[in-house]
Amino acid sequence: MIDDIRRIQADAVSRLGAAATLEDLGVLERELLGKTSELTGFKKLMGGLDNEAKREVGGALNAAREAMTAAATARRADLEILASRHRAEAERLDLSEVRAGRDAGHLHLVTQTIEELEDVFVGMGFNVAEGPEVEDDWHNFTALNFGEYHPARDMQDTFFVGLGGPREVVMRTHTSPVQIRVMEHQAPPIYSVMPGRVYRNEATDATHLAVFHQIECLVVDRGITFGHLAGTIDRFTKAYFGPGWTSRLRPSYFPFTEPSAEFDIQRPDGTWLELGGCGMVHPNVLSNCGIDPEEFSGFAFGFGLDRLAATRHGVTDLRELASTDIRFLEQF
Ligand code: PHE
Repeated sequence: MIDDIRRIQADAVSRLGAAATLEDLGVLERELLGKTSELTGFKKLMGGLDNEAKREVGGALNAAREAMTAAATARRADLEILASRHRAEAERLDLSEVRAGRDAGHLHLVTQTIEELEDVFVGMGFNVAEGPEVEDDWHNFTALNFGEYHPARDMQDTFFVGLGGPREVVMRTHTSPVQIRVMEHQAPPIYSVMPGRVYRNEATDATHLAVFHQIECLVVDRGITFGHLAGTIDRFTKAYFGPGWTSRLRPSYFPFTEPSAEFDIQRPDGTWLELGGCGMVHPNVLSNCGIDPEEFSGFAFGFGLDRLAATRHGVTDLRELASTDIRFLEQF
């Protein structure tokens, strides 16, 4: 009897280990371990045995059941891994696909705009700097001379990230924190432009995006004046839009510039387009970055790209810029 049980065990363990699929394994388990299995049959025969033999046969039966269950469990684990590999393979998307008759894709309209603007500024002697989109309060607000209770820190405008202390980590609300990062790491002279994505906690509609793009320009050197600011903006306007375009400044307020202005650009047909903000870098901001405001002065300006790109290309709903519709994207 014991030999029979051992033979059944060895045979069962090798059949379970060779099950080809999870379904086959289930069928085998029922056959080899279920109520009508040979193993269960032996249990019924045990009634006619003396105590000593009962113990031995019982022990062999238990050992056989354990070995078979272990073989089934091990095989199930292997088959599950194989099955999930097959599933992953079957669901795999080939994102490198190039469809016949079309090119392999191109840069997004906003990226193209960033690159064009960078080209213009690089041509004027600027370099390009970048900073993180997740910022700390120091770079996004405090170092930029925002008072502790400035309304722009309010929940209305800022997405707060659940890291650090309350309201300590934010999605940057503008590219101006990159000014701070540049000035913290580099001594003047500084001539940098800083494009990037920014975030505002605002409802999205045809003319507003909660996630959009800005480009920032920063100059810090000896003897920089408001005239340099106005001249740079006008030069840039003509270089980027065309010789028939001009610019103007209107008094405004930003905590990090003094004096501050808004700047508009004028199309050749005489109509005006509001573009962005600018001003002379506030002495507190220079000091916050370890730059002596008695020795150096600077200017900065910044503006949104998305509206600019949309206007130039006749896109009437800014939300289209975030769409993944290939028919929209292919137009540019
Ligand atoms: N950061 C300002 C904004 O997002 C724009 C600005 C940049 C103003 C640089 C002045 C100087 O509105």
